[in-house]
Amino acid sequence: MPTNADVTAQAQQHLLGNYRQAPIALARGKGCELWDEDGKRYLDLYAGIAVSTLGHGHPKLTAALTEQVGKLLHTTNLVYNAQAARLAERLASKTGGALPRAFFCNSGTEAIEACVKLARRRAFLAGEPNRTRFVAFKNAFHGRTLGALPLTGTPKYWEGFDCDVERVTHVDYGDLEQVHQAVAAHPKEICAIVVEPVQGEGGVLPAPPGFLAGLRAITREIGALLVLDEVQTGVGRTGRFFAFEADPFIEPDVVALAKGLGGGVPIGAMLVRAELDSVLSPGTHGTTFGGNPLACAAANAILDAIEDEGLLAHVNEMAEHLSQGLSALAARHPKVLAGERGAGLLRGLLMQKGFEARQLLVAARNEGVLLSVASERVLRFTPPLNVPRSILDEAFERLDRAAASLG
Ligand SMILES: Cc1ncc(COP(=O)(O)O)c(C=O)c1O
Repeated sequence: MPTNADVTAQAQQHLLGNYRQAPIALARGKGCELWDEDGKRYLDLYAGIAVSTLGHGHPKLTAALTEQVGKLLHTTNLVYNAQAARLAERLASKTGGALPRAFFCNSGTEAIEACVKLARRRAFLAGEPNRTRFVAFKNAFHGRTLGALPLTGTPKYWEGFDCDVERVTHVDYGDLEQVHQAVAAHPKEICAIVVEPVQGEGGVLPAPPGFLAGLRAITREIGALLVLDEVQTGVGRTGRFFAFEADPFIEPDVVALAKGLGGGVPIGAMLVRAELDSVLSPGTHGTTFGGNPLACAAANAILDAIEDEGLLAHVNEMAEHLSQGLSALAARHPKVLAGERGAGLLRGLLMQKGFEARQLLVAARNEGVLLSVASERVLRFTPPLNVPRSILDEAFERLDRAAASLG
């Protein structure tokens, strides 16, 4: 059996150094617990950054995957497969029939890439070839391919990539007045507004009330699409299947999903309104693995568990507990922590000025709690949706020690 040190040495020699990786190698998991190669136990409060919806080793997901592996692992998009068809129908019904068509891909970035192509192609087909611009938001994260990257609102991520940011106007998240101004500057050139219902990477920042409805009204007025990036917020993370359901007046044109949809098996999806179905006609877009039976079997098992195990109610209950626990933690360490915010089980713990989230991340990891950083001063909590109360309680004790070690 390798040790953490063995794996780290091998990885550091042969993996591309594009990530900032901790010198531990996770070896196995059960529920919301993980063990590294040296046998140290961790509480999983990041779920692979909002991916492991059911934690690790969930019997239903394991059984569904095992069955599908034995039956049919992969086919092509030259034929249909029952898992993809069923998943598309189920996702459509989760939107109440508003978005009845699905395109499957392999990641969140690819789902956004498809949205970018859809929005531009729709305008092109409507005889508006100059309608190629987007409005997106500062600190937004939509992925890193050259189609998605210009939407991502962090200039340092663009540097050196000849990124096509000229055709995206980034404005402050939550500021409808700035959106109006951006639109007024290019009224006939905007093909879509792309927005996260809660900015995840940008610091776990929920949209202010009425913001999404305001964007809906603006996009309708100018004939542009409203694209909701629910890659991080979708599939129950905020306590509703889609985060946009929190605002009853929102009817998006397009929704992007990924992360939690496959519970750890890579899958992304773009869901669209019926009238957008013909925009990406045969030959205009596609991917070998999209809609793969294994990935779709995983997603169907995730939807089964969400429905059969009452997971949305559980998320809401645990979100309350997590929110209270983090507030109490902040109150006990006022020099280090400034408070908490978020939606459902997507929560951020805010650091005081002078402290970086990364410091607490490392201290928490030393105490056996795995978390991720959402911006310089926000530590992000995205536990599995089925996280038990006892794991959160144990984490609060460990985080108490971690925060104490900082000041
Ligand atoms: C809101 C949002 N959109 C898109 C992406 C990109 O997804 P992926 O990393 O699966 O390509 C992410 C990833 O963090 C995300 O949070």
